[in-house]
Amino acid sequence: MGDGEDRPSLADQRGVESVYQPAEDSDLLARTARERVEAGDTVLDVGTGSGYVAATLADAGARRAVGVDVSPLACREAADNGVPVVRGDLVEPFQRDAFDIVTFNPPYLPTPSEQEWDDWMEHALSGGDDGRRLVDPFLETVERVLAPGGEGLMLVSSLTDPDAVRAYASEQGLASEQLASEKHPYEALVVLRFYRV
Ligand SMILES: C[S@@+](CC[C@H](N)C(=O)[O-])C[C@H]1O[C@@H](n2cnc3c(N)ncnc32)[C@H](O)[C@@H]1O
Repeated sequence: MGDGEDRPSLADQRGVESVYQPAEDSDLLARTARERVEAGDTVLDVGTGSGYVAATLADAGARRAVGVDVSPLACREAADNGVPVVRGDLVEPFQRDAFDIVTFNPPYLPTPSEQEWDDWMEHALSGGDDGRRLVDPFLETVERVLAPGGEGLMLVSSLTDPDAVRAYASEQGLASEQLASEKHPYEALVVLRFYRV
């Protein structure tokens, strides 16, 4: 989510882009999820942005890879990139048991409210005070749309405390395991897998 030795600030991104462009976090999630897709799987990419992760999983053999994003700008860009996309909040628009794999690279930068300014890039980057503004609601709702045997794959940063994320998942009745991790200058990126116990 940015370069440099200092912890990234949401303010650094102001006016730079209106849709989050694929970065090292997108790439780690896409590479990890790609290994788990089986031919014929139905995939949902939550917070799809440009559609990069969904497009990667379609290319890996998914029967269908759909994106959802709250931002109309992201929806337009994903559609332009050939990804079927719905505008909506997390998994809310979708039916029960609909997906074999649900991916999510959430907005996760811990951001004090006084640094927020309510534009679409803030929605793409800010994870609120603890970085888990959307991580927790995702864990509360993803199970409903997972097909039997399905799994959620979420990118988590050391900035948002992966152990706390896994503990909260457990409270929601989801087991978890770490599938991948990478060190970057100011954070470690981790991909967690969530599944029904
Ligand atoms: C860090 S970006 C990731 C974009 C893309 N998936 C990638 O990896 O390059 C997070 C995305 O989540 C979207 N988003 C934020 N809140 C959302 C919500 N409540 N429901 C769906 N998408 C949301 C943002 O608009 C943004 O596109």
